Amino acid sequence: MRLPESQVAVLNAASATDERTIAQLAEATDLKPETVTGAVFDLRDDGLVSVTETVEEDVELTDEGVEYAEDGLPEVRLYRAALDVGDGDSVQMGQVIGASSLGGPQVDIALSNFARKGYGRIDSGELAPDADADPDADEEAAALAALAAGDDVDADVLDQLESRNLVVRNERTIRAVTLSDEGVTALMEGIEAAETVDRLTPEMLTSGEWEDVEFTEYNVEADAPEVRGGKKHILRQTADRVKDVLVGMGFAEMEGPHADADFWINDCLFMPQDHPARTHWDRFALDVPPMEDIPEDLIDRVRSAHLEGVGDDGDGYHSPWSEDFARAIALRGHTTSLSMRYLSGHEVGELEPPQRYFSVEKVYRNDTLDPTHLLEFYQIEGWVMAEDLSVRDLMGTFEEFYSHFGITDIQFKPHYNPYTEPSFELFGRHPETGELIEIGNSGMFREEVLSPLGVECDVMAWGLALERLLMLMYGFDDIRDVHGTLCDLDLLRETEVLR
Ligand code: PHE
Repeated sequence: MRLPESQVAVLNAASATDERTIAQLAEATDLKPETVTGAVFDLRDDGLVSVTETVEEDVELTDEGVEYAEDGLPEVRLYRAALDVGDGDSVQMGQVIGASSLGGPQVDIALSNFARKGYGRIDSGELAPDADADPDADEEAAALAALAAGDDVDADVLDQLESRNLVVRNERTIRAVTLSDEGVTALMEGIEAAETVDRLTPEMLTSGEWEDVEFTEYNVEADAPEVRGGKKHILRQTADRVKDVLVGMGFAEMEGPHADADFWINDCLFMPQDHPARTHWDRFALDVPPMEDIPEDLIDRVRSAHLEGVGDDGDGYHSPWSEDFARAIALRGHTTSLSMRYLSGHEVGELEPPQRYFSVEKVYRNDTLDPTHLLEFYQIEGWVMAEDLSVRDLMGTFEEFYSHFGITDIQFKPHYNPYTEPSFELFGRHPETGELIEIGNSGMFREEVLSPLGVECDVMAWGLALERLLMLMYGFDDIRDVHGTLCDLDLLRETEVLR
């Protein structure tokens, strides 16, 4: 019989006595324990040895346990100090602690165990040691000493020490190896040790050495390291899918600056210049030169809408309107700035109805970070320009859009935006928590917005949160799971966006 070298060594070592553990075999053969374990399993599979497994517990003192084994348990030291200071009478706590040389957390440990173990009473700042208590008979102290000396101790005391974190118990599997009858026979008949190799080389082929070596077997069941390729972030994947869906619904994509003039971000939207959202608290203002490239006639019409209103009903705000403020640059808080650029004709020229446009782009808001708010997030912006649009068209568009993502239960709540009338917030139900979460905002642009832009028909528009759509699709409930340093890597790795 021919066997790999390590198996022959183990078999020989195992034959020396009745039963040997892996550790003993490793020592006897000078092989690594894991090599011995591998050889033992191969030998067992060939029926040459049998293996019995027993689980052993070993108990180890923690650092704190070692310290108490040397210096004494804190409660015992407290008791002794109390007797010393008070000669058997009650003593002031502060005095005893000073005399006991206990420090920091040990004082609390001493006090809580003092009363529990009957060393005395603690009453309004005084410590009364019990004269009958016997620290020499302290079971826990005795057990610590025994363990330090390598002796066994009673299970109950061990539980107690473990609950005080003075010991840790570890379980180990001990494997004992015995030669089987076949093993004994094989050894008697003689076993040849074959050099084992794990790969064939050209030299082995030319020298003919390949005929004498033993090849290690492939273990196709061994745990292999996990290999992970790169992949697109699920947010990006979902954004791509949103774009596909909207293109499929006949929309064209808008593009434009992340840092833009307040004119496009707010003034065109009939947002009064003293609106709270336009203050320095909410706005990420940039210290860069103002925007020059804005059509003068458009500025005039927007200014006039703010000051005097448009049409017969509107009255405007009559508050000051500053062109400098309108030209100042900030990070966009919504992508409705893009809708303004496109609707005004500034981007792609005058548009004839019907038209549909969208963007899936980042926006920036000075919000407080929490499970549903980030300082930057993706907005799904969109608008439809056509004659005679109604709220039904708006709702129908959302129902169609969200149904592509398996979301069929959209709810609408009347809302107020300075730039749309009527306006609606959209809500969807979270698949895990059942909560209604806000997923977007929408409405029909007002006359005060459309007229300065030169648009003569209806425009319905919206801004939806991409991250919230993801929450509804995948059920996570903290937006920070998909963004930033706290993101949930497993979620990001395992979630596949369905196409
Ligand atoms: N700009 C709005 C927001 O950020 C969304 C919106 C866009 C609402 C267009 C109505 C019309 O919440």
